[in-house]
Amino acid sequence: MTSPRKAVLDELLEANPELNIPVNDYNINVTANQGAIIDAEQLFAAYRVFDGAGRDAHFYFHLPLCDYICHFCNYVKRKIRANNKAEELMHWADLLIRETQLYLDQVPWLRDALIRSFYIGGGTGALLLNNELAFRRLITHLNGNFNVTEDCERSLEGNPENFTEESIELALELGFNRFSVGVQSLQQEVNAFSNRGHSPEEALRAIQVLLKTGRPFSVDMMFGLPYQTAESFERDIRTLVEFGVPCLTLYRLRNVEREKMGIGNASVWNSEKHKHRLTESGMFPSISATYQMRDAATGILRANGYHPSPCGWWNKATTYPDGNIPRVSKDKWEKYNSMLAFGPGAYGWLSGNQPSFLQTHNITDINKYVAHMEGNPTVPPLAYGRILEGNVAIGTRLSFAFKANQPIILDEYRELFGVDLLNDEPYANVFAELVKRDLMSRSPDGRSFAPTWKGEELHEEIMYIYFHKSIGGTLDPACKRRTILLQPVHADTAISK
Ligand SMILES: C[S@@+](CC[C@H](N)C(=O)[O-])C[C@H]1O[C@@H](n2cnc3c(N)ncnc32)[C@H](O)[C@@H]1O
Ligand code: SF4
Repeated sequence: MTSPRKAVLDELLEANPELNIPVNDYNINVTANQGAIIDAEQLFAAYRVFDGAGRDAHFYFHLPLCDYICHFCNYVKRKIRANNKAEELMHWADLLIRETQLYLDQVPWLRDALIRSFYIGGGTGALLLNNELAFRRLITHLNGNFNVTEDCERSLEGNPENFTEESIELALELGFNRFSVGVQSLQQEVNAFSNRGHSPEEALRAIQVLLKTGRPFSVDMMFGLPYQTAESFERDIRTLVEFGVPCLTLYRLRNVEREKMGIGNASVWNSEKHKHRLTESGMFPSISATYQMRDAATGILRANGYHPSPCGWWNKATTYPDGNIPRVSKDKWEKYNSMLAFGPGAYGWLSGNQPSFLQTHNITDINKYVAHMEGNPTVPPLAYGRILEGNVAIGTRLSFAFKANQPIILDEYRELFGVDLLNDEPYANVFAELVKRDLMSRSPDGRSFAPTWKGEELHEEIMYIYFHKSIGGTLDPACKRRTILLQPVHADTAISK
């Protein structure tokens, strides 16, 4: 079946060629790859004196283990040893507990931070359901040592085979009230080619298990994969909508090394050999075909009452209260609250009502992380930090706010940074450009801006090109009124290397 919106993204890219980024250059991340780098010691010193007591914060735990390694995946992970699963899971629960303990012992404000959400991801966070004792130990430790709010949003991320009738009971009993399951595709050959270890039937069975919980959950779907077409992706999305899935997250295939950003591993398809072979044989769909997939999917979602909040995450109208956005997204992207991250490669930030932020990056190499944690450390396994201030901080905050797809309120930037987004440069130029291109619109009362539908379609590209690069890349201190026009930016120079 063809979608009536198929040409939309092609037209958009023609009108905005600077947003046209080829698959092998596409390395977009919400987090800025900018800001002055500080070493682990300086970072931990700044961490300790940050004033987070009584403030909202969020936890992210990264379990770097998977039952299989997908060829597209450049997250930090390794294959779990099949003959030693229970022991390995216990080891990792223990490492994560010890990592939080290092902070508990030395960062006084942390016990008093209000933990409003935690997220167990990875890798495959839900593998912990295979070792009840280990999982219970981790959750009991968190509940007992931190100020976890009563209505805390507790999310568990996993793969279809992790969510069964029995395992979901344990997850609910441990307090999880939101889930995320990676399906990627319901086309057998797409997932088989990517080395996913589950069939379409298993994916649909897991969805039925999650539906029965009555809790919100998200199904991760990828587009732009080998063997996918707009028709096949549209069929997949239609099936999921008919199943009543409350939230669908659409990810365009990224095939650039996150490792170079200090936040990932190289994927199988990142290797030059595979990249070349797949590109030469035309296995990666073209940008146009890739965006036709997105068009087809979003056409179905819009027709069925789904709304993207945040951008790219399509929720049924009644899934979440307060803007229909998961708390973790609202707080981390719209409000830019602190995110405290644990596990190899995990990254977070210390933020709040001040005009500069601290980004934290853990050791990415799994072996080095383990060696650090087993060496009786007195400091956490931090690798480096970044100080985000001036325009980098403003660009990052704007980028996060755009991602959240909630109103960007002008007064907040006036109060926090002392800048007038409408009249000071470089912001005024960026805002004027985005409005002129119909990628962002102003609210009727004039007090806020939000992405338009077109802006949603290309939100990652906009975040990178306009906020991180045009604003964040402007080295001038914030709030210096200038009159230069936006420098044209080109995709080949715009991507983080
Ligand atoms: C942390 S990952 C993996 C979680 C879980 N293990 C799984 O496989 O679904 C979360 C999601 O990121 C997406 N993802 C992974 N690699 C990607 C890539 N190279 N480009 C775009 N999205 C990717 C997938 O949709 C995946 O479900
Ligand atoms: S996509 Fe998920 S299961 Fe596949 S390798 Fe990445 S983290 Fe593991």
